[in-house]
Amino acid sequence: MESLENGEKSSEFCISVFGLGFVGSSIAAAWLRAGAIVEGFDVSVERIQDLKNPRTLGFEEAVEEAFDKGLRTGKLRLYSTDFASKTRSNVKFVCVPVYLGKDKRADLSFLKSAAAIVGSTLKEGDAVVICPSVPPGTTRKVVVPILDKQSGLIAGKDFDVIYSPERILVGRAVEDIERRYPTVISGIDERSLNRAESIFRLVAQKGVLKMPNIETAEFEKLAEGVYRDVNIALANELAMVCDELGVDFWAVREAANSQPFSQIHVPGLGVGGACIPVYPWFVIESVESTTTRIIEDGRAINDSMVDYLVESLRKNFHLNTKSKVTILGLAFRGGVADSRLSVTYRLVDRLRKSGFDQLRIHDPLISNDAKVGDILTSDFHEALSFADLVVIATDHKMYKDYDWESLKRDSKLKIIDTKGILRDKSVSPSIEVYGLGYGSNNPKLIEGPFKVGTED
Ligand SMILES: NC(=O)c1ccc[n+]([C@@H]2O[C@H](COP(=O)([O-])OP(=O)(O)OC[C@H]3O[C@@H](n4cnc5c(N)ncnc54)[C@H](O)[C@@H]3O)[C@@H](O)[C@H]2O)c1
Repeated sequence: MESLENGEKSSEFCISVFGLGFVGSSIAAAWLRAGAIVEGFDVSVERIQDLKNPRTLGFEEAVEEAFDKGLRTGKLRLYSTDFASKTRSNVKFVCVPVYLGKDKRADLSFLKSAAAIVGSTLKEGDAVVICPSVPPGTTRKVVVPILDKQSGLIAGKDFDVIYSPERILVGRAVEDIERRYPTVISGIDERSLNRAESIFRLVAQKGVLKMPNIETAEFEKLAEGVYRDVNIALANELAMVCDELGVDFWAVREAANSQPFSQIHVPGLGVGGACIPVYPWFVIESVESTTTRIIEDGRAINDSMVDYLVESLRKNFHLNTKSKVTILGLAFRGGVADSRLSVTYRLVDRLRKSGFDQLRIHDPLISNDAKVGDILTSDFHEALSFADLVVIATDHKMYKDYDWESLKRDSKLKIIDTKGILRDKSVSPSIEVYGLGYGSNNPKLIEGPFKVGTED
C-alpha cells in the first residue's frame, strides 16, 4: 500500500467502518486487501458475533477471504461496544442504511445515530466518509451538525468530511470497489476533497471522479438508480405493447441495443433490491416545485407489473383458487442470495389476496426466509411437480441452464416466463410457455398474459 500524503505509514494505516452490513463489509474487505488495519463497528452484537465466522454469512468469496485473513492476522478488529476508547483510526467510513419510510421519505434514523457515535470518536485531523445514498443536502444539513455537536470540533476546520457513494452490485462488490468503476468523491471543502482523493486512490484502480460539491455527489448516485428504474419501466411498457401488437420484444431489444444509443433494460415483474426502487423517492422528496412525472410514472409502472400478472392468471389462464402456483426465484436478481424488497414478496401477497393459497417458492441460493416461511423450498423438482402453473420471477442461472426438454409430466404445466429466459429454449411437450414480451413468437400466446388494460 502506498503511504498517504499526510504522512501515515502504510503498515499503520487504520480505518474504521461503522455499520458492517453488505456495503460496510465489502468496504472493510477492500481495505483489508489493500493492507490497512480495519476497525469494524456495528451496533448489533449479533452481527459482530456472526462476522467472526464469515464463511457462514453468504458473502462473496473475496469478502470471506479478506475477513478470514484479517481475523487470523489481527488486522480486522470487530467491536459492538466501547469503541470510542479503543479506536485509533483517523479515517471513518459510515455505511449504515437509509431506508424508505412508510411515508415514502428517507428514514435517516440510522444515519443520525451513527453520526452521533462517530462524532463521539472524532479527533482533530480525522476524516469522516459518508457512504449511504441520501436525499441531496443530507450530509451537510443533517450529518455535519451532529458530528460537530458530538465531537465539539468544527467540520472543515478540525476534521474533513467526505461524501462518496458506494457504486456496487450485490455479488461482486469488491471487484466494483477496486477495479470496475472510478470512485465518485466529494468534500465539504477543498481540503476534504483533496483528502478524499489521496485516500481513495489507495483502493480505486480506476481512479476518482471529483464532484464539485457534496450535493452533486449525493444526487449523482440517485440519478444512476433513477435511470435504471425508469429504463426498466420503459422496458416493461414496451414489452406489454409488444404483446398487444404480437411483436417479439426480445428480438426488438436485441436489435435496438446493437447500436450504442439504445440501452433498453430487461423487463420483469417490477424492481427489487435495497436501492433501485428506493432512490426515485429520495429524488421526489427533495424538490418542491419541479415536476418528477417520469420518475413517478416509472415507479408506478414497475409496481403495477405484479397486478398485471395476477389479473391475467384469472382472465387468460382460467386459474382458480385451487390452482397450485410455484414461483421460481425469491432473490431480487439472478445470481444473488439477497431478497430485500424482492417482487416475489409482492407476488405472494397479491396471489394470497386473490385467494390463491397453494403456493411454493423455489430459490437455489436462499434456503430460509422468515417472511415466506415453509412455502420456500430448495427442491427444484418438487417445486415443479407441485405446480399447475410456474412463474419465473428471477433470472437465476439454474433456470437458464435447466434442461427444460427433459421435463416429464402427466398433466400440462403452464409456465409464465417474466425474464425472457425460455424464449430461445426447446421445451418438453409437457410444458406450455408464455412470456412477458414474447408477442406472436410464442404461438400459444394469443391474448398475452400481460395485455395492457386487462380487467377482471
Ligand atoms: N445493498 C446495496 O447493494 C447497496 C449498494 C450501494 C449503496 N448502498 C447504500 O449503502 C447503505 C447500507 O446498505 P447495506 O446493504 O450495507 O445495509 P445493511 O442493512 O446490510 O447493513 C447495515 C448495518 O448497519 C448496522 N447499523 C445500523 N445502525 C448503526 C449504527 N448507528 N452504528 C453502527 N452500525 C449500525 C446494522 O446493524 C447493519 O449491520 C444503504 O442505505 C444504501 O443506500 C447499498
